[in-house]
Amino acid sequence: MKLSLLLIAVITFSTVFAGEGEDLFKQRCAACHTIGKGRLVGPDLKNITEKQSLDWLLAFIKSSTAMINSGDADAKAIFEEYNRILMPDNNYSDAQILAILDYIKQGGAGEGTSAASPAADILNGVTAENIATGARLFDGAQRLTNGGPFCASCHKVRDERIFSSGTLAKDLSQSYEALGSAGVAAIVKNPPFPVMHEAYRNHPITEEEVINLTAYLKSVNEERIYQRPANFSMFFVFFGAVVFFIIFMSTIILYFKRKKLAVNHDILSRPSKVVN
Ligand code: HEC
Ligand code: HEC
Repeated sequence: MKLSLLLIAVITFSTVFAGEGEDLFKQRCAACHTIGKGRLVGPDLKNITEKQSLDWLLAFIKSSTAMINSGDADAKAIFEEYNRILMPDNNYSDAQILAILDYIKQGGAGEGTSAASPAADILNGVTAENIATGARLFDGAQRLTNGGPFCASCHKVRDERIFSSGTLAKDLSQSYEALGSAGVAAIVKNPPFPVMHEAYRNHPITEEEVINLTAYLKSVNEERIYQRPANFSMFFVFFGAVVFFIIFMSTIILYFKRKKLAVNHDILSRPSKVVN
């Protein structure tokens, strides 16, 4: 009862400050959710206020992790359905969350981030060149246009071309598998995680860089599954053959050298120290 009064108060309030929910949604939710444009990293939030109670939504948006751990059946079911991707916690006030929910209720008017459309894959038409550029941007060999920190300063990937990498944040080797190109691109473009958000706040990553980095993370994810083990065994077979050949040849060379000269050749050919 108290909450619905609060909701009414906030809705009235938020029609005056209509922008707040929209701003918050775009900053901290749009990377993973659309309103009526389909599934992204997380579910489409259209009509969510009809599906779940206000109490549930407030608790879930503040900490989905806490709700999953508490054994809430709906929270656990949706967590499993979305590949066990954790939604980050938010330290918003009830009023801020209500403003976001109000924005969602209004159908996300003005939500026009085109990259959030799951229909068109941003990786259509990427080439090996995009992947290579993405790798250089990731490990800092090439600077980001707007000067943000390189990804490997916080993240790790399983890619032997990259030697130094950070352990501050998650290993991204499998992120593509869970998030898809739309999800990875949305996160890179508009990071919903406070630390990463802060790092790029004044150094936005360009559209082209988003595509290159996403293409790179996709290739890391695919190579990790298919190519890496095969490459490794081929490498060792080749390496073994080369080492064998070198040892074999030097044995032969040494053998023939030894045969050609008498055992005492060295001694006899020394200049004589006897002075007469
Ligand atoms: C990093 C991606 C990510 C961000 C950012 C994110 N979410 Fe989520 N959200 C998810 C995922 C994934 C799920 C599916 C449930 C789960 O895995 O816990 C989810 C589930 C939800 C649900 C439950 C939907 C249902 O059908 O039951 C709501 C509500 C929600 N998010 C609201 C928000 C709001 C509001 C924000 C912004 C403050 C936000 N989310 C930010 C990824 C995210
Ligand atoms: C200042 C540190 C920092 C930098 C720099 C950084 N990130 Fe992140 N990133 C994070 C944090 C923190 C998270 C949240 C997950 C976690 O706790 O590890 C994250 C999460 C992600 C995720 C979601 C991973 C998943 O599987 O849920 C992706 C994708 C990602 N970052 C890509 C990038 C890319 C690409 C770059 C380079 C342009 C980058 N990050 C640079 C700190 C950083």
